[in-house]
Amino acid sequence: MHDLPRKAVIPAAGLGTRLLPATKAQPKEMLPLVDRPAIQYIIEEAVTAGLNDILVITGRSKRSIEDHFDKSVELETYLEANHKFEELEIVRSISDLAEVHYVRQGEPLGLGHAVASARQHISNEAFAVLLADDIISENHPILPKMMELYGETECSVLALMEVPSADISLYGCVAYEEVKDGVVTISQIVEKPDPEEAPSNLAVIGRYVFTPNIFSCLDHITPGRNGELQLTDAISLLLEEQPVYGCLITEGRFDVGTKIDYLKAIVELALMREDLGPAFKEILQEIVSKMN
Ligand code: G1P
Repeated sequence: MHDLPRKAVIPAAGLGTRLLPATKAQPKEMLPLVDRPAIQYIIEEAVTAGLNDILVITGRSKRSIEDHFDKSVELETYLEANHKFEELEIVRSISDLAEVHYVRQGEPLGLGHAVASARQHISNEAFAVLLADDIISENHPILPKMMELYGETECSVLALMEVPSADISLYGCVAYEEVKDGVVTISQIVEKPDPEEAPSNLAVIGRYVFTPNIFSCLDHITPGRNGELQLTDAISLLLEEQPVYGCLITEGRFDVGTKIDYLKAIVELALMREDLGPAFKEILQEIVSKMN
């Protein structure tokens, strides 16, 4: 078994245009899903998988992310003085969650460029990348499986999910061969192909474990789909050097990158909550019965 990655990279420098106007002055990663910002789910997922060193790639208007994971002395003092111990516990647990570092991307030139900005912090280790547009339910974790596969193979691993062929042009898409149940080797990867040209229905979901070799591949990419430096194009180069595996997700993934998916994610995540789910279900049923 090879040493498992300890570091996670979370790109959060995008402009969030699909969620405007909510994202005009606020990072999309800070939009709440029930009672916590999307990026908190992501960091909690990373920490649960054993990734305690987190690097967030930020850009302009992203200061609230740093504030959220920082200690809030003023708030803690207030809560303590007013005997609001439950809230105090919640506030403290966020700043104690992980060792969170930040680096600025400068210009948002694409996901490949964002990941390349992590090079100095990661150095020569394997690491994970988690995209904040994809929320993975804690009931169906995929990262531990990906880390285990890395431990066995010392190769990069991507999370993959079957999507309807009409949706494949929203994702990175792979050609693959099955190794065993839920695990494939990837033979080709292409960013957002037209459905007629897609090599399969397996889409890349925003969880990656990379060998440090991805950095030299990122050095060699040129602007690709949408004129952006695409991580997918670097993975395509990586495939020429070493095997890349895929781990299949079948359930528990919520896309929060568009308005309609964001709404759906909130409803589903609220229904899953022990404290809020039952009452929320009654409210939903009431709303639906009125619609009928
Ligand atoms: C990015 C990646 C794409 C991947 C997707 C997963 O696309 O470029 O390969 O399938 O995330 O969510 P984006 O959604 O940022 O356009």
